[in-house]
Amino acid sequence: MSGQPRGYTDLDAPYNAGGNSAWLEKQESRSKRSKWIVIGSFLGLLGLIAIGVALGVTLSRKSSSSSKSSSSGAVNQTDPNDPSTFEKNPNLHQSFYGIAYTPEGSQYPACGNSLDQVITDIQLLSQLTTRIRLYGADCNQSALVLEAIKQTKVNMTVWLANYNIPTDKTPYTRQKQAIQEAIQTYGTDHIGGVTVGNEFMLNYLNANGASDPNSAVGNQGAALLKADIDDTKQMLKDMNVNLQVGNAEAGSYFNTLVLEDVDYGMSNVHPWFANVSIDQAADWTWEFFDEQNVEPAKALSNSPKMYIAETGWPSNSSDAGNESNGPSTASTANLQTFLDTFVCQANQNGTGYFYFEYFDEIWKDQQFGGVEGWWGLFYANRTLKPLTIPDCQSP
Ligand SMILES: *[C@@H]1O[C@H](CO)[C@@H](O)[C@H](O)[C@H]1NC(C)=O
Ligand SMILES: *[C@@H]1O[C@H](CO)[C@@H](O)[C@H](O)[C@H]1NC(C)=O
Ligand SMILES: *[C@@H]1O[C@H](CO)[C@@H](O)[C@H](O)[C@H]1NC(C)=O
Ligand SMILES: *[C@@H]1O[C@H](CO)[C@@H](O)[C@H](O)[C@H]1NC(C)=O
Ligand SMILES: *[C@@H]1O[C@H](CO)[C@@H](O)[C@H](O)[C@H]1NC(C)=O
Ligand SMILES: *[C@@H]1O[C@H](CO)[C@@H](O)[C@H](O)[C@H]1NC(C)=O
Ligand SMILES: *[C@@H]1O[C@H](CO)[C@@H](O)[C@H](O)[C@H]1NC(C)=O
Ligand SMILES: *[C@@H]1O[C@H](CO)[C@@H](O)[C@H](O)[C@H]1NC(C)=O
Repeated sequence: MSGQPRGYTDLDAPYNAGGNSAWLEKQESRSKRSKWIVIGSFLGLLGLIAIGVALGVTLSRKSSSSSKSSSSGAVNQTDPNDPSTFEKNPNLHQSFYGIAYTPEGSQYPACGNSLDQVITDIQLLSQLTTRIRLYGADCNQSALVLEAIKQTKVNMTVWLANYNIPTDKTPYTRQKQAIQEAIQTYGTDHIGGVTVGNEFMLNYLNANGASDPNSAVGNQGAALLKADIDDTKQMLKDMNVNLQVGNAEAGSYFNTLVLEDVDYGMSNVHPWFANVSIDQAADWTWEFFDEQNVEPAKALSNSPKMYIAETGWPSNSSDAGNESNGPSTASTANLQTFLDTFVCQANQNGTGYFYFEYFDEIWKDQQFGGVEGWWGLFYANRTLKPLTIPDCQSP
């Protein structure tokens, strides 16, 4: 490899535009998804971007329900009517700082999620971590998660999220209302913050033929994003609620004006997409995050707290052709290596990360193929993959 690739994106926005076809067409016509384009030096480092990633085509309700995975039997309860009496799986350990989670069936407008499934998920997740983050607020997912935390009585903090887009206020406003109602119903005891935006800048730049988040074009996108961030802050203020407001972005795409406007930033850092071999993956992830996110954030007057929003490794690919990305290869053995080299080490040195991700997501495999649907610790049916979960109590 000539020069270490330092950019990447995740390709897995769990949201679809829900009728915003202009934005969608633009994304799709620009390039086929998952095509990597070298954009040359970026922040003095090589950057890569993938095009047309965030907003996928709408899965019909039919296809999503016909492929629905089953969670029944994944967790047993001594009292079938009391979700707090769930049996613990001795193979699970509360070793993860946090985990990235989207309830099955939370892609608007198809939806189709259920409290029963979310309860199962929270029962399993609570055996691995005390923190989860969501990506959006469609399909009532904020309330479902908070209700499941209430019924399971677990120690869990959730970072709610509003997955806004540059070209249409409707998704933002719809999710804002859902978040407001969830806070009114459940209070803030189990909420760590509200994240506004998921790879908003990456998508805005791609759609406008630009790559530098702090260019003039970047600052135009940032103004749109900041308007929604500020509106969410105002909503919380009006509710007399004290919650942190943050933003999630691809690791190389944070705009400074946005970071100056938030309490925290969540950064996607993906060694697999950056063509890093598994034996270097954990170190690369930590170094990338430190250099590109932690140190720059420290230099800002508001010093936003930085988290890794996503990091992980795929266990499989739907086709052999996409199993490897340069030296990075999808396999269960490599996923195990990433767990063994990243999780407890990152806990020890105080990195706040959300492991990507809880379970394999069938809708992503159907929509995107390749490795997209295979990042889970659990299979889609909530069976643990043949993995040894690291055993170290997370901070
Ligand atoms: C739940 O209980 C049934 C019946 O005892 C058992 O077969 C099954 O393996 C248990 N499931 C789990 C996840 O422990
Ligand atoms: C709950 O988890 C948090 C970390 O998220 C930890 O600080 C706290 O001590 C835990 N509470 C209990 C009762 O275990
Ligand atoms: C959202 O979920 C909560 C918790 O399960 C439930 O009480 C509420 O009725 C749901 N709202 C909608 C619109 O489905
Ligand atoms: C922190 O942990 C990561 C692995 O998660 C490791 O690569 C890195 O070297 C550690 N940093 C320090 C300063 O110990
Ligand atoms: C891996 O993906 C292939 C292709 O989709 C599939 O046939 C196989 O069942 C998957 N393996 C596992 C363990 O899920
Ligand atoms: C990463 O790997 C892919 C697939 O092998 C290749 O097309 C691409 O050029 C590689 N990128 C870099 C920066 O090495
Ligand atoms: C899979 O590989 C093919 C051929 O290299 C490529 O055209 C396609 O975009 C890849 N798909 C994904 C999801 O990476
Ligand atoms: C869950 O899915 C995995 C992978 O497809 C499979 O090997 C396993 O048998 C399934 N478990 C159950 C309980 O259906």
